[in-house]
Amino acid sequence: MSEEKVTTDIITLTRHVLDEQRKHKEASGDLTLLLNAIQLGCKFVATNVRKARLLNLIGLAGGVHNISGDEQKKLDVISNEIFINALRSSGKVAVMVSEENEEVIIVEEGLKGKYCVVFDPLDGSSNIDAGVNVGTIFGVYRVAEGSPGSVKDVLRPGNEMVVAGYCMYGSSANMVITVGNGVNGYTLDNSIGEFILTHPNITIPSRGKIYSVNEGNAKYWHEACEEYFHSLKFPPEGKNPYSARYIGSMVADVHRTFLYGGIFAYPADKKSKNGKLRLLYECFPMAFLTEQAGGKATTGYERVLDVCPEDIHSRCPIFLGSKDDVEDVEKIYKKYS
Ligand code: AHG
Ligand code: MN
Ligand code: MN
Ligand code: MN
Repeated sequence: MSEEKVTTDIITLTRHVLDEQRKHKEASGDLTLLLNAIQLGCKFVATNVRKARLLNLIGLAGGVHNISGDEQKKLDVISNEIFINALRSSGKVAVMVSEENEEVIIVEEGLKGKYCVVFDPLDGSSNIDAGVNVGTIFGVYRVAEGSPGSVKDVLRPGNEMVVAGYCMYGSSANMVITVGNGVNGYTLDNSIGEFILTHPNITIPSRGKIYSVNEGNAKYWHEACEEYFHSLKFPPEGKNPYSARYIGSMVADVHRTFLYGGIFAYPADKKSKNGKLRLLYECFPMAFLTEQAGGKATTGYERVLDVCPEDIHSRCPIFLGSKDDVEDVEKIYKKYS
């Protein structure tokens, strides 16, 4: 019987980021320490998500709503506190924005660092009671030159982000990250508590066969949106229609889009003039990752990463995924602009 080869040279996320940092002489190692804090948060949340039913963490936090009007789940609140504590105690963060906090969080002097982190501590939480994959989404800006660290440091276009990523909590915890030089995927090995490189250089196929949108909003769709999705369902003779896949957890729908190709969308419509997804901590990180993986992300009319947020909880329409599929969206929307 052939002996299973034991891997004795594993590439952990920390080692991979350090290797990346070594390429930049001026690197101080601060980013590595910041990412270690984010990893700690994700490992801790992963444990709570996995044990949620056992620890009776399922269900609502007691009728509380966040600024977006979402009903907060117990796990939303716990995950939020886990990340705020991990980021604050890292000493590398000056400013935080969370989906679950109405106001921006400014870290006190003494612990203030040079990064700003915007995050959705638990994405897809309405699905948590059904055991569907959920996740954490995060994006990182450097504090602007000469800034003491304020809300102004996060009201900037997503094209100024230096790091973006998500961690998807499912049968295993999958971390997908970019530091501006491609996208890599890591899987948590619970036995050693490390994220191991399992998906190097994730690249989105240039065209896919899957579309992912909540068709329940079709009644409210604008004409351009209607025309686009109609073109996928009723293609010209000789072409196959696209398949529909919609999980309702952005992290899960985007992860599938990265690996299989196709398009994920949360469009603007007559009911929600900017769609539902929040620009800072859902659209920007996913758009940054999408472009770094060779795809595109548009509002329909402009590149998502070029949008400048008016408010820390601004919403933004988004179509992201395979380059050719997103360019089809842009062509149709151009006709209606
Ligand atoms: P969150 O759980 O962080 O509030 O995000 C939920 C979002 C996103 O995960 C998903 O793509 C979208 O809500 C689904 O919205 P609909 O149920 O309206 O389709
Ligand atoms: Mn929410
Ligand atoms: Mn979310
Ligand atoms: Mn959330």
